[in-house]
This record gives sequence, C-alpha cells and structure tokens, in this order.
Amino acid sequence: MQRIFSGIQPSGIPTLGNYLGAIRNWVALQADHECIYCVVDLHAITQWQDPKLLAGQTRELAASLIACGIDPWQHILFHQSAVPEHAELAWIFNCVARLGWLNRMTQFKDKAGKDRENASAGLYVYPNLMAADILAYHATRVPVGDDQRQHIELANDIAQKFNHDYGVPFFPAIEPLIMGPAARVMNLRDGTKKMSKSDASDQSRINLNDSADAIAQKIRRARTDPAPLPAENAGLEGRPEARNLVGIYAALANTDEVGVLAVHGGKGFSAFKEELAELIIAAVRPIADETGRLLADPGHVEGVLREGAGRAGAIARPIVSEAKRLVGFLAA
Ligand code: TYM
Repeated sequence: MQRIFSGIQPSGIPTLGNYLGAIRNWVALQADHECIYCVVDLHAITQWQDPKLLAGQTRELAASLIACGIDPWQHILFHQSAVPEHAELAWIFNCVARLGWLNRMTQFKDKAGKDRENASAGLYVYPNLMAADILAYHATRVPVGDDQRQHIELANDIAQKFNHDYGVPFFPAIEPLIMGPAARVMNLRDGTKKMSKSDASDQSRINLNDSADAIAQKIRRARTDPAPLPAENAGLEGRPEARNLVGIYAALANTDEVGVLAVHGGKGFSAFKEELAELIIAAVRPIADETGRLLADPGHVEGVLREGAGRAGAIARPIVSEAKRLVGFLAA
C-alpha cells in the first residue's frame, strides 16, 4: 500500500478551496492508502501568527478535518511541531537545496510581495520544510491543490540530489495527486487570484464555518461577467470568474465543466448562482456543525493530535536517523 502525506496550514479557517482542492481528496484516498495528514504549524509561522490564537487555530483545523471525514484512528492526524524530525530533516535539506531552485518559487514571490527584504527567512526556505514533511515518512503520493505543484517538483529535486550526493537511493520519488475539476478554486472577487484563507477580504472566499446566509450572499455577490453561461467549455476561455463558478459546481455535483454546461448553458448567472449556493450550503453546513460539536470538547481534539504525533514520530524517527547517518553525523 502506498503511503500518502499531505499538510494544511493553521493560518485561518479552511476554505472551500482547501476542501475541494485537497481535503475532499484526502478523505477519498483513505480507502486504499496509508494516510498521514498534518496540521503544519511550523509552516504557518513563516508569516506572523498571533501566539494567543495559533494553538486554537491548530485545534479548530484538526476538528474541521475530522468533520470532513479524516479518520484519525485508521490513519494519522497530527500537528507538525510535535514531531521534531520535520525541522531536523528540513535543516539537512536547507543544505541540499540550491538558492537558484528556491529563487524560482512563485509562491514565495506572491507571498513576499513587494517587501521582499522584509519577508522571513522561513518563508524563503518553506519548500525545503515541505520536502522534509513528505520525505521523513518516505511517502510517495501527495494530494494537493494545483498551487503546490511547483513545491512537489522541488521536493523531488531535493530527494534526487540527496540520493546523488550521498550515493544511495534513500529517498523515493514523489507523485503529486492533483485531482478533480476544482484543483484551483479562485477568489470570488477576482477570478485571477486563488481563493485563500489568509486573504484580507472575507467576501473573497467561502469559509468552512460560514452560515448558510453568508454563503448565499457571498455567491450572489461573486463577481461575474454579463454574458450568460456558454453551452460549451470553449466558451469559458478568458472568463475566469465564470470558469471558477462552473468548476466549483462541477466538483460538488461530481461532474465536470462539460457536464455542468450541458445542463446550465444559456442560463444567466443569477439562476445558476442560486443553485450553486444550495450545493455549497449542502456540502459545508454539515461540516461546520460537526466541527462545532467536536470543539465542544477541545481536550479530546488535542488528545487525538497528540496520539497521532506519537504514531507519526515512530515512523519518522528511524528514517530521519538514517538520513543523519548517511550525512555522516556521529550517532547521538
Ligand atoms: P495550504 O494550507 O495553503 O492549503 C492546503 C491545501 O489546500 C490546497 N488549496 C487549494 N486547492 C484549490 N484551490 C484553492 N484555492 C486552494 N487553496 C489551497 C493546497 O494546494 C493544499 O493542498 N504548503 C502547503 C502545506 C504543506 C504541505 C506539506 C502539503 C506543508 N507541508 C507537505 C503537502 C505536503 C500549504 O501551504 O497548503
């Protein structure tokens, strides 16, 4: 059975983008993989996180993942900072990855923005930590949204260079799993930007804890162009907002763009948006309710994470210990 690893940052409430691009696929993959899912709090602090809020966000995200259908008993769910092997292997990878490789990372450019000099060093080496997350478990398949594709390619480059430099085929190749018609859900106010839990505007996204009214209102106000929906998907070219809403609909209705347009082509957006909002509400509200129920006992959620961290550490420890031996460190 192949081992899966994936992670999500506790930097806010997860969005419909996280759900359709990643979490929903994580749930499905549990049927025939050994899955390790991680709340990546070390990654979160590459950008400022209020220390009074971070632990709560970690707990809430874990509850939300369980509510979505992650099974923390059959599989593993834990928080990254509880397994020190991630940071340890990341340091080795800081010394394997080349500056030229990191300089090509588009996410760093997006997140650092114009004030590059003031970005944290952690944000710059973020992809090395991500490679360590995956490779500390010798995981071979990584389900992610489309925005993480470049980071997975870099993780493969790191694994290959490590194997080459130390002369052993120690780290496996990693296959990104980028699945479904909503692998890149866009911002509701600007179809050229991705939907993000850390965007300043709450109107730009659907949060997994939004009320039914908030969802209906955000979809009604979502930016669109004046033309009706096209009958064929070629008609979505150059219409990023229209394509985004069709993609979300397709994912939730378990079809694709062609399937959605076959039914809704020719309709105006107001009618389509009503139906779309209903689909989103039907998917999101049960998750929000179950998350709330789980959070009524925060100690339970924390216990689940700690127990997961114990099992994750037991897998990562011998692998990272062998990596250290290969590097030539004297045994601890
Ligand atoms: P993060 O927290 O930004 O997002 C978690 C997952 O959600 C996907 N995603 C999206 N998919 C579709 N449309 C969107 N608008 C959208 N926004 C986010 C992301 O692609 C991701 O799969 N670096 C990662 C976390 C990470 C990780 C790892 C992932 C850390 N270590 C190791 C895989 C393996 C991140 O910031 O995800």
